[in-house]
Amino acid sequence: MSTDAIHDEAAEARRGAFTGRRVFILAAIGSAVGLGNIWRFPYVAYENGGGAFILPYLVALFTAGIPFLFLEYALGHKHRGSAPLSFARLSRGTEGLGWWQVGICFMIAVYYAAVIGWALSYTVFSLGKSWGTDPNAFFFGEYLQVGDPGVTLDVVPGVLLPLAVVWLALIVVMALGVSRGVGATSVIFIPVLVVAFGALVVQALLLPGATLGLDALFAPNWSALAEPAVWAAAYGQIFFSLSIGFGIMITYSSYVHRHTDMTGSAMVVGLSNSGFELLAGIGVFAALGFMAQAAGAAVGEVATSGIGLAFIAFPTIVNEAPAGAVLGVLFFASLVMAGFTSLVSVLEVVISAVRDKLEVSRTRATLLVTVPCAVLSLLWFSTTSGIYVLDIVDHFINRFGILLVAVVSMLVVAWGVRALPRLRDHLNRDGSVPVGAWWIVLIAGVTPLALGFVLVRELWAVLQEPYGGYPQWMLLVFGWAVVVLVAGVGFLLARVPWRPQTRIDGYNDVDPAPTAPLGKDPS
Ligand code: ALA
Repeated sequence: MSTDAIHDEAAEARRGAFTGRRVFILAAIGSAVGLGNIWRFPYVAYENGGGAFILPYLVALFTAGIPFLFLEYALGHKHRGSAPLSFARLSRGTEGLGWWQVGICFMIAVYYAAVIGWALSYTVFSLGKSWGTDPNAFFFGEYLQVGDPGVTLDVVPGVLLPLAVVWLALIVVMALGVSRGVGATSVIFIPVLVVAFGALVVQALLLPGATLGLDALFAPNWSALAEPAVWAAAYGQIFFSLSIGFGIMITYSSYVHRHTDMTGSAMVVGLSNSGFELLAGIGVFAALGFMAQAAGAAVGEVATSGIGLAFIAFPTIVNEAPAGAVLGVLFFASLVMAGFTSLVSVLEVVISAVRDKLEVSRTRATLLVTVPCAVLSLLWFSTTSGIYVLDIVDHFINRFGILLVAVVSMLVVAWGVRALPRLRDHLNRDGSVPVGAWWIVLIAGVTPLALGFVLVRELWAVLQEPYGGYPQWMLLVFGWAVVVLVAGVGFLLARVPWRPQTRIDGYNDVDPAPTAPLGKDPS
């Protein structure tokens, strides 16, 4: 066997690996399909041109989403490490980019878990429609016990308990490792999610008024295509939804055996994610059409996204729909499953990085990461001020975290390290989708330009008007300070030296030949 093949086996035994391409693809789909698909996409599409949104969406998918997915797959699969290790092996000076992504994932995990905790409560509430006749008052009042914007340490036990359950489940799954934990979770949850969500869509389509919702969603507003905001929305949606820019896909592809078709895998993942978004759009808007008809209102008056859609509109629909409890359980259980597999992937970025850097055991790395993350999550989000913090952190970290690190990493890889040709060669080695000069043109120019434009717009918007009408000090502390902190801490962590046994320089500069069967070693 070649030395690289021996090294691969040792690394797989130490770091863990997916048992095959099918598991990798399911885990990547599990990461991509999340809250963004179910509660974000339908409304983003509706608000940005309806049926006409398909055009900017597909342009963003094929000019930014899939090409960036190729880039992350190439980085992780070629360099066989977590985000920081892969960047360090690409070129030592770029390691900070990986840690920046680790910091972003740490912050996202803290609040993403809170939403899954709420959805878990609401799965149970659906059975008895515990929210009563006024879901809005119930959610903010009785359930979250929201006070004025600010910070309090008044713990709400009804929120603390489901959140603690989510963190316990996460700790167990993450400690089980890449194959038995991360991979197995998606292998089980993704088929169940597709069946549960498929049943929800069928039930929603059978509701009276469903076609009103679909008409509202798909009616094309072609003039929207002239608005830059619509294009910005498409690029923003693709990045969050495909889980790119987080370092997740770098980490996951490092667990895939060499000589795997990574470009074909990226196409399967990208198209499955978009397929699920379409399904979510149909299910959500069919249900909103029913809600509008029952209220004698226009769909536009009841359509919403995020927390408003999940925890206020859906309970209202459940109250009025025939077999509403079933619809509620299907919806909230789908949110839990989709969210959980995404959250597992977000945490894996952090655990994998800690494990690579400190060379500690899986269990130790899991505890080192999940315990502080869980404590922070429980302290922030089981108090009466949690929802404000969540909204601000989510808004800022998505824009000035994920999108910014994506732009910077494309520019650094393309122009700083000039690594695109060798990454392209790596992809072409076993890939079924040929990667040509078009990919280099996109990653080195078109995609960073498009995302840079989105970022400048977002920055302008937030400077013009304080986001969400929150007090400036809250935006400074939970928005800007968090964004700067994750980047700053990331670049500091890059200064911590690697253990002597971790190969960095000269690692895998040349792809080894396919591994020969034992006993027929070419070397
Ligand atoms: N891709 C994940 C989502 O859509 C993070 O929620």
